[in-house]
Amino acid sequence: MSPNLVLVGFMGCGKSSVGRLAAQIAARRFVDTDDLVVQAEGRGIPEIFATDGEETFRNAESRVLENLRGNHDLIVSTGGGAILRPDNRAALRALGVVCWLDADPDVLFERAARSGRRPLLQTDDPRGAFDALRLAREALYAETADFRLDTTGLGRDAAARSLLDEAANHRKRFDG
Ligand code: S3P
Repeated sequence: MSPNLVLVGFMGCGKSSVGRLAAQIAARRFVDTDDLVVQAEGRGIPEIFATDGEETFRNAESRVLENLRGNHDLIVSTGGGAILRPDNRAALRALGVVCWLDADPDVLFERAARSGRRPLLQTDDPRGAFDALRLAREALYAETADFRLDTTGLGRDAAARSLLDEAANHRKRFDG
């Protein structure tokens, strides 16, 4: 039985794609908290933001994190803002080894903006919004994570393998 491996980081850092591949390699189950919110609410994230606002989304996100308690051996990808609430940060650290998946800001922005489905970037100045969010959140990712993995220049496969190697070095917190 292994502690879960939890991925935090900014939109576009590859939490879902790298996490999914790492789960395949390590034969572990992958869950994405954004998907769990969508399932629980029965509607998409842009619709939740547009109809009921960010707070409603954040409440659903907190419930999903709380409900994951007691699981093990999972690889868990989280939404970029999952680290905003102190209770969420504690829940994430209790869930397992936490990795902050990071990359060069230009790379992050290019990936995050590409999908066009992220409500927080639907403004007149998406790059300004992105930079402001990143600055406000960096310390929270650092505080929550056991380690940071910079994936700039790494392909998905190399990133997934580094992630699994590094995570194995950080499971001491859960041993004994
Ligand atoms: C958010 C990031 C999104 C999603 C929601 C809010 C954020 O997830 O949870 O749109 O606050 O950064 P990704 O990080 O998977 O894009």
